[in-house]
Amino acid sequence: MLFSFFLVSIPIVLAQQHNAEPTVDGSCDDGWQSFPNVTDATAYPNWIIDEELGAYMPVYQTTGLNASEVTRAVIILHGKERTCWTDWNAANNALYNATYDDSTIERDEISILSPCFFDEDDLEAGAAQDGQLLWGKRTWMSGHRNVAPDSISDFSSFDVLDALVDYYMNTTLYPNLKVVVVAGHSAGGQMSQRYAALRISTENDDQLHFWIANPASLLWLTSDRPVPNDDCKGFDRYKYGLASKYPAYATANARVLGREGIIERYNGRTLNYAWGLKDNGDGDTRCQAMTQGSTHLKRGKNFVSMLEDMGGIPNLTTIDWVPKVRHDTEKMMASDAGVDKLFRYMGNSTDA
Ligand SMILES: *[C@@H]1O[C@H](CO)[C@@H](O)[C@H](O)[C@H]1NC(C)=O
Ligand SMILES: *[C@@H]1O[C@H](CO)[C@@H](O)[C@H](O)[C@H]1NC(C)=O
Ligand SMILES: *[C@@H]1O[C@H](CO)[C@@H](O)[C@H](O)[C@H]1NC(C)=O
Ligand SMILES: *[C@@H]1O[C@H](CO)[C@@H](O)[C@H](O)[C@H]1NC(C)=O
Ligand SMILES: *[C@@H]1O[C@H](CO)[C@@H](O)[C@H](O)[C@H]1NC(C)=O
Ligand SMILES: *[C@@H]1O[C@H](CO)[C@@H](O)[C@H](O)[C@H]1NC(C)=O
Repeated sequence: MLFSFFLVSIPIVLAQQHNAEPTVDGSCDDGWQSFPNVTDATAYPNWIIDEELGAYMPVYQTTGLNASEVTRAVIILHGKERTCWTDWNAANNALYNATYDDSTIERDEISILSPCFFDEDDLEAGAAQDGQLLWGKRTWMSGHRNVAPDSISDFSSFDVLDALVDYYMNTTLYPNLKVVVVAGHSAGGQMSQRYAALRISTENDDQLHFWIANPASLLWLTSDRPVPNDDCKGFDRYKYGLASKYPAYATANARVLGREGIIERYNGRTLNYAWGLKDNGDGDTRCQAMTQGSTHLKRGKNFVSMLEDMGGIPNLTTIDWVPKVRHDTEKMMASDAGVDKLFRYMGNSTDA
C-alpha cells in the first residue's frame, strides 16, 4: 500500500528538449561556408519561389508534418548575420518551451519555415550555390531586389515573402491552416515591420500576423521624429520613413495609396510588437536611426508614443514589453509573450 502510494506520488519530470545550435565555419563578413542540417528541420537548398522564373533559394522547414493537420505556419526571418539555421533552431526550441508549458499547443500542427537570404560572399565561401536567389548584405531586409542569378532581375525579397505566405495559404496543400505569422527578431524584425507596411494585400490578409521584435530601426509613420536632427539627411526616406525612396516592389502601389493609405493599411494589420526591457543596445548608429531614439528599447517606446499620438494603439496591434531580456533571439521567442504571439495568439480580426 505504502509502496504504491509512494510510486504514484513521485512527479514524473520529463526533460524538456532543447536542440544545440549547429556550428558553421565562416562569418557574416566573409561568408558562411556551409548550409548545415538542423535537427527537426528539412534543409531545402532549392525551395521553389517562382516556378515560371526558375527562382529558388534555401529554406529550412519543420520535417515530418502531415500538411492536413497543420493549423499554423511561422515564417522566421533571420538576423543580420544571415544565420537562418540559428533562427530556425531558436524558434523550434521556443516551440519546445511552448508545448512543455501548454499542452494545447501541438508540435504536429505548427510548421516553422525559415528562408535564407544569402549574399555573394556566401556563394564564394560555400553556403550558397550558383543559381539560387542572392541579395545584398543589408538590402534583403528592406525589400530590395536580388543581386543574382543574372537570369532573374528585379526580384524583391518581399516577393519571396509573398510566395512563402501564398504557399501556406494554399488550401489544397494546407486545408486547416488558420494563421500565418511572419516573424523576425532584430534585422528580421526590421524586415517583418517593413513587409507589413508595404505588402500588397490579398484576400487572406486577415489570417496573417507580423511579429516584430527588437528591430534596430523602424519605418516611422509620421514625418517628425522624437529626437529631431536637421543635419540628418533623409531621416524620413525609406527605409527609415515614408517620404520617398520606396523599393521597386512598392513604388506603383505607394503612388496609388500615398502615405496616408499606406499607414491605414499597415495599422489595419495584425501587428504584434515585442521589445526586451533590457535591450539597451543601439544596433544602428546612423543618424536616421538615432532620430528615432538612442537604443532599440527607446526607439520602441517612441514608436508606441507616436501610435498613441496618432489616435491610439490600433485595434489589431499588440505590444509586449518583455521583462529581463536583452537583444536575444531565443529568449525573446521563448518568453511568455513570444510563445503566445508565435504559437498561440489567434488575433481578433473580425473577418477571420
Ligand atoms: C545533411 O544530411 C544529408 C542527408 O543525411 C546529407 O546528404 C548531407 O551531406 C548533409 N549536409 C551537411 C551540410 O552536413
Ligand atoms: C494526415 O492527416 C489526415 C487528417 O487527420 C488523415 O486523414 C491522413 O490519413 C493523414 N495522412 C497521413 C499520411 O498520415
Ligand atoms: C496549391 O497547391 C496545389 C498542390 O500543390 C497546386 O497544384 C496549386 O497550383 C496550388 N495553387 C496555387 C494557387 O498556387
Ligand atoms: C484584441 O485581443 C486582445 C487579447 O485577446 C484584447 O486584449 C483586446 O481588447 C482585443 N481588442 C479588440 C479591439 O477587440
Ligand atoms: C476599434 O474597436 C472599437 C471598439 O471595438 C470600435 O469602436 C472602432 O470602430 C474600431 N476602430 C477601427 C479603426 O476599426
Ligand atoms: C526553455 O527551455 C529551456 C530548456 O529546458 C530552458 O533552459 C529555458 O529556460 C526555457 N526558457 C524559458 C523562457 O522558459
